[in-house]
Amino acid sequence: MAFALPELPYGKDAFGDVLSAETFDYHYGKHHQAYITQANDQTKGTDLENASLLTVIAAAKAAGNKKLFNASAQIWNHSFYWLGLSPEKKQPSAALLARIDADLGGLDAFKAAIKAESAGHFASGWGWLVLEGGKLKVTSYHDADTPVAYEGVAPLFTLDVWEHAYYIDYRNARPNYLDALLDHIDWDFVEANLDGQGASRADQG
Ligand code: FE2
Repeated sequence: MAFALPELPYGKDAFGDVLSAETFDYHYGKHHQAYITQANDQTKGTDLENASLLTVIAAAKAAGNKKLFNASAQIWNHSFYWLGLSPEKKQPSAALLARIDADLGGLDAFKAAIKAESAGHFASGWGWLVLEGGKLKVTSYHDADTPVAYEGVAPLFTLDVWEHAYYIDYRNARPNYLDALLDHIDWDFVEANLDGQGASRADQG
């Protein structure tokens, strides 16, 4: 089965000025869609034609197929990114907050750390909150690289820091985009991913 653009868990105008409908038209409707088209074109007629997205990512990495890795990893990264955002301003539960306090020094410290990691990330990539060695950790990956390509790293939340993610609404002001999105984290999604199964939530096929 060919990969398809996953449905968004909200309307494309749900975020108002934080992420405009125009951003969704381009970022979701064109960029995310383009990765799907590329991965489908590259896997058609191959052994991977009916494989799951996570299988394609792993196989492309193992084979050193950078082109297919980039397309497939970017499908997964974007699907996961959309799931981690909430139009409403939510708060982490007491249980999740306790984990954030213990591992990252509190909610404000987490936001400062992921903002610094993401704002300071040179060129294209993704800022991440992951679970590694049983602890929450802030990190980033370059270009299409993704935590699901690494053993022992479970994804919890991500911020797209490719320019296409913020240029329509924030122009070159990446830090302002990060500040706005850090008030719109879907903490229920983050908490669900503490089960270590976050990778499967943006899988398909
Ligand atoms: Fe993107």
